[in-house]
Amino acid sequence: MPAITASAPGKIILFGEHAVVYGRPAIAVPVSQVQARATVMANPAGAPGQMRIQAPDVRLDANLDSLPPQHPIGTAVHLVLQALGISRLPACTLRITSTIPVAAGLGSGAAVSVATIRAVAGSLGRKLPPQQVSALAYEVEKLHHGTPSGIDNTVITYAMPVYFVRPPEGSPSIETFPVPAPFTLVIGDTGVHSPTAVAVSDLRKAWQMDPDYFELLFDHAGQLALAARRLIEAGEPLDLGPLMDENHAILRRMGVSSPELDRLVAAARAAGALGAKLSGGGRGGNMIALVEPGSAAQVAQALIQAGAKGTLVTQVGGGPGAGSQEGRR
Ligand code: PMV
Repeated sequence: MPAITASAPGKIILFGEHAVVYGRPAIAVPVSQVQARATVMANPAGAPGQMRIQAPDVRLDANLDSLPPQHPIGTAVHLVLQALGISRLPACTLRITSTIPVAAGLGSGAAVSVATIRAVAGSLGRKLPPQQVSALAYEVEKLHHGTPSGIDNTVITYAMPVYFVRPPEGSPSIETFPVPAPFTLVIGDTGVHSPTAVAVSDLRKAWQMDPDYFELLFDHAGQLALAARRLIEAGEPLDLGPLMDENHAILRRMGVSSPELDRLVAAARAAGALGAKLSGGGRGGNMIALVEPGSAAQVAQALIQAGAKGTLVTQVGGGPGAGSQEGRR
């Protein structure tokens, strides 16, 4: 068995988080300079049929069959075996490493799933089509989030900007799209851990109390996502700033921002960002700011001064990892 490695990028949501759960479009983009990697290699010393799983970042070193049934990595492996109709693995080791910050809205769970699914299938001599990789990763996402829209596993599987609409039932509509003029984002981490499932469930309760109010907010966010896609495709990404500001205002009204996020968003704008918003589940996690490439360092520094625990500068379009820089407090 040759060693097989697969990797998958992080991601951020550019427009439309939360509204996407209610069927409105959203845009997500890969963040290629952070990656999850999974390698499957033969383990000649291992018992036949046994897979050893080593994920030092989360201090995991265990046999596959000793993991609890809902374990995300174990589930990803079992889903691949089931999909391929394979009941017994050769003795092997699955090693997982990741540079994607955990629980920060950068898609670390989905990236680990996608890399694991591809590496395990590859080690068995099979290449799964992207739709199937994404569908299996979605099953694992359900363990983390309950009712995820599916946007994370999609953007991470395709590793391209996606315009995503979740229909009421059936498979989502996914369109990847080109970015003719690359643009630069600064990502700022509040350092506040906030599970997406809690923000999603609180918003659902609020929506149930006043559906008309929230449906209007969702419509507005969806319109912004569509307008943003048109600007990106037209090669005018620097005009996205006001749309990001507007989307942040809507997310505040949805009740998913936080004082820390608002502070970082304001600091980015004051330091010259063209627009800024929270990204992902909210209440904590990350915010993003659109910047002219020349002002990325100054905006990143302003974010650190305003309390960000880390920043990441990423370029959307123009090739993986282009223009990457990282800073931590
Ligand atoms: O917190 P993240 O980056 O995984 O994003 C969640 C996005 C939501 O729209 C809030 C939920 C979802 O499932 O789409």
